[in-house]
Amino acid sequence: MSDNAPYVKWFRESTPYINAHRGRTFVLHVSGEALLSDNLTNIIGDMVLLNSLGVRLVVVFGATVQIDQHLDALGIETRFVDGVRVTTAESLPGIQQAIGKIRSDIESRLSLGLVNSPQHGAEIVVTSGNFIRAKPYGVRDGVDFQHTGEVRKVHAKAIAGQLAAGAIVLVSSLGYSPSGEIFNVNSVEVASEVAAALIADKLIYLIDEEGLLDADGNLLTEMPMSEVPDDVDRLSPAAQAKRAAQRGVSRCHLITFNRDGALLEELFTRDGAGTQISRTSYEQIRSATSEDVAGIIELIAPLEAQGILVKRPRELLEAEIEHFIVIVRDGMIISCAALYPFGDKGELACLATHPDYRDGDRGEALLAAIEARAKSLKMTSLFALTTHTAHWFTERGFRQIDVDALPEKRRNLYNWQRNSKLFEKPLA
Ligand SMILES: CC(C)(COP(=O)(O)OP(=O)(O)OC[C@H]1O[C@@H](n2cnc3c(N)ncnc32)[C@H](O)[C@@H]1OP(=O)(O)O)[C@@H](O)C(=O)NCCC(=O)NCCS
Repeated sequence: MSDNAPYVKWFRESTPYINAHRGRTFVLHVSGEALLSDNLTNIIGDMVLLNSLGVRLVVVFGATVQIDQHLDALGIETRFVDGVRVTTAESLPGIQQAIGKIRSDIESRLSLGLVNSPQHGAEIVVTSGNFIRAKPYGVRDGVDFQHTGEVRKVHAKAIAGQLAAGAIVLVSSLGYSPSGEIFNVNSVEVASEVAAALIADKLIYLIDEEGLLDADGNLLTEMPMSEVPDDVDRLSPAAQAKRAAQRGVSRCHLITFNRDGALLEELFTRDGAGTQISRTSYEQIRSATSEDVAGIIELIAPLEAQGILVKRPRELLEAEIEHFIVIVRDGMIISCAALYPFGDKGELACLATHPDYRDGDRGEALLAAIEARAKSLKMTSLFALTTHTAHWFTERGFRQIDVDALPEKRRNLYNWQRNSKLFEKPLA
């Protein structure tokens, strides 16, 4: 085996990720600290790699440290109130200079074409411009924040146009008002706003830590957005990732800027390297236990009250709980179905999805799980009784049958007054 074997293996295993990421839009936030890190050359190389693999890349950069240093050198005092810089008219030119310098530094690094650099042969085009329209942060608790701003609008179409042309779009924390004023906006917020406006596939924050940590200091590799606490600092990457996720960005990642390769590991390996904050929370489909009875009752009671489902007394549900399969999300039962055996036939019953979670293929997933269970019990067909949902069943391979076709035991229980329609599906 050659020395390159692990590399070849890793490269092959990254194929699904390369395919999945091609043509997708990623917004990458690089803080001022990250720009000063020893790992910056590798991070720039990774930007080039992503661009070369067909990722549409927007890079939003911060400049807090560089602005502090530059204003300090100019002898201009600057202050923060509640974590937000007060951008005075006096400090604004210095801030523009610091940001302008970073911008051209990144542009020059991305333009580097030396043979021994990852950029060699890539000919990356970098664009930046007035993509952010800003409004004043205003006067808060008596403090006039002057040229500190908030994002009012992201010119998403213009950014998308540049991305479609193959450019890396570079966005700073400066925004402009229609009256021509310049505002300094928090770059973490800018990244979140840009990602939301583009409905980006990923928003990635490069941070000092490995990712989000639990109380024992262990890395949390996944976190549904609902679990990001509401009281985290509004301008922190975690809070702004949550905000972007709430506004439609599918995946947000917090990855360390300190470790070489962390970004690629997170994007191109199964295990990842940082914390992924996802829009959809974890959902689990599993057999029900007696602890699920209360949750199932909560889910089906309104449907029983409307006469859509047959009423099941709690004791009956407890006795029959092993027949149920449930979908659980953040500890809440949002979907359920039951399989009652009648010889070699099974009745699919009590199929329900919470109204907030319908049309997400959960009914379909439960049907598949019930079918699998029925097959494992050597059943040859599934039948279902319904008053409201006939088409749902016929669209999924069921056909209507007569009461006579029911297994005798079930036929005797048929409620003629309810007059449900009957459907059957053979199991291949
Ligand atoms: C039927 C039900 C379980 C589907 O759950 P779900 O998690 O939304 O299921 P899916 O996402 O797999 O299917 C949704 C699709 O079924 C369609 N659908 C929902 N109810 C339907 C009905 N009564 N008739 C026809 N189609 C229906 C939806 O429009 C959607 O179609 P689309 O994919 O083309 O947009 C849910 O609507 C429900 O709880 N209904 C009330 C209880 C009920 O009627 N149970 C069946 C009797 S046992």
